[in-house]
Amino acid sequence: MGDPIREYRLAKEIFRHGRDLILSDEAQKMKSFTQHGMTSVFEHTVSVAKYSLKMANVLEKIGAKIDRRSLVRGAILHDYFLYDWHEKNEFHRLHGFTHPKRALNNATRDFELNEVESDIIRKHMFPLTPVPPKHIESSIVCIADKWCAICETFKIDISSYIIYRINLHHDIARGRVRLGHLHKHKENVI
Ligand SMILES: [Fe+2]
Ligand SMILES: [Fe+2]
Repeated sequence: MGDPIREYRLAKEIFRHGRDLILSDEAQKMKSFTQHGMTSVFEHTVSVAKYSLKMANVLEKIGAKIDRRSLVRGAILHDYFLYDWHEKNEFHRLHGFTHPKRALNNATRDFELNEVESDIIRKHMFPLTPVPPKHIESSIVCIADKWCAICETFKIDISSYIIYRINLHHDIARGRVRLGHLHKHKENVI
């Protein structure tokens, strides 16, 4: 696990930018599908959002201008294809090539996307899909996705704490967790 304070801040930022997505029943469906190893698609997308923000922090220090909100929202929805790609059938063939388009179609149907978010989803598998990312945010998610996929495949724990925090934010916002007297004001926690 990384520095808990930094992880806490990253979780807060992911939840702030992606609150409506994370709280939606639609995006929560990603918890029922496995991505790599023991990681669900939802957990994978949280990891990708985290590493995308960490890359953004470094790039901003050298002067890059990054739309952090679109970065997080695109990362959360980049694998919104909503099926178990491990099941062998005709629809899942060539998953690696076809799922960005399917994720984009589902995301466009269920949420409002801007141009940067759409580009992030459509191009995240580059160079497996031939058209390169158009925006810096899409390039960041494309790289963060590959890093997270490698770690998840080899069962290296890179994000369990931040996933715990995001799920806690979700449960508090949905009223499933009662806050103690120290946290009377929800907004101080989430
Ligand atoms: Fe993907
Ligand atoms: Fe991914």
